[in-house]
Amino acid sequence: MFSKQRFLGVDFGTASIKAVELEMKNGKPELVNYGEAALLTPESGGSGIPIRSFKEDMVLRFRALLERMDPGTRDLAISMPSFLGLISLIDFADMTDAELEESVKFEAHKYIPSPLEDVALSWEKLSVKEVPLPDGTVQKKTEVLLVAALNKEVWQYEGYVRAVGYDMKLLELETFSIARSIVGDDPGTFLIIDIGARAANLILVEGGLVKMSRNIDAGGRDITRTLAEGLNISVERAEMLKKSQKDFLNAREASIIFPAVEMTLNEADRMMDSWKAKWPDARLDGVILSGGTARFTGFAQYASSKLGVPAILADPWRHIVCPAALQPIIEKLGSSFSVAIGLALYGMKDKK
Ligand SMILES: Nc1ncnc2c1ncn2[C@@H]1O[C@H](COP(=O)(O)OP(=O)(O)OP(=O)(O)O)[C@@H](O)[C@H]1O
Ligand SMILES: [Mg+2]
Repeated sequence: MFSKQRFLGVDFGTASIKAVELEMKNGKPELVNYGEAALLTPESGGSGIPIRSFKEDMVLRFRALLERMDPGTRDLAISMPSFLGLISLIDFADMTDAELEESVKFEAHKYIPSPLEDVALSWEKLSVKEVPLPDGTVQKKTEVLLVAALNKEVWQYEGYVRAVGYDMKLLELETFSIARSIVGDDPGTFLIIDIGARAANLILVEGGLVKMSRNIDAGGRDITRTLAEGLNISVERAEMLKKSQKDFLNAREASIIFPAVEMTLNEADRMMDSWKAKWPDARLDGVILSGGTARFTGFAQYASSKLGVPAILADPWRHIVCPAALQPIIEKLGSSFSVAIGLALYGMKDKK
């Protein structure tokens, strides 16, 4: 009975594996345990030359993390990086579910470059809208969210869980985990910019649903490299300086341009433009910054001034009850646990 109230979410990132264990208590998710296992990267002092295969290394560190955490559940939700998947919102004419199933498969061909037998495909009906036509009549349209990833990628992530002998209850693209922990059921429209070590996820969430998402190849490790080159210092030193209180973005004497930051904010701008072009009356309630790199000093201020929309730091812990003793640590971890929390929250949904 006890273990049924608990759920573990695991985020396989580039810089680290992060895990969060939640327990449903009095109808509220409470933090039981969390853990992080660093993966060896050049920034963390590793040579970058693997001594084992990537997969072996991941399993080894994952197993060690679980042994340390000793979770009170075998039920696990995991995510895979957004750039390994495809998310599309497609409008269909109003039809029965059986017809829709056929149409989705047919349409999927246009969006997915690989043979469908190599692809894990999932879809969900989001809404039925009435769209006015030029002749004054209205047409009913069904909005469908299509999600796809290559089977071989899905099997790789399933393989990590199988290797440690846990039960995988969910595998999703991290896009959805982030949206769940940061926006959840909050009404309104938000653009989430999640920047990790390697990649940035830009996610437009409306009424709690993912409506648009893009990934770009820009992350914290590019910022470290730019700092190291700009200041002619080692990568380790640059990584430390990056995490200091020094504001490299807004200071008047700031002379370093960070291409990773510029690329991400330009993409955010383009996304907001295409959202406005599609829904001219829609309003954006704000930009929310998530992921480890959101903590780069001055980032929220810089993003606000560049985008012309208020940008705030995400707080994925806000709906989670945390023991007082853990509060200072939680504040330090901040938004880098967005994915793991979103995954653990999935398991809490049906326990509410
Ligand atoms: N205080 C800080 N200031 C600036 N950058 C930081 C800070 N803390 C962590 N980072 C950076 O955040 C990145 C790690 O973020 P996160 O944990 O979200 O990445 P990840 O999930 O492992 O990677 P990815 O999602 O790209 O696979 C690293 O590049 C790290 O240097
Ligand atoms: Mg990440």
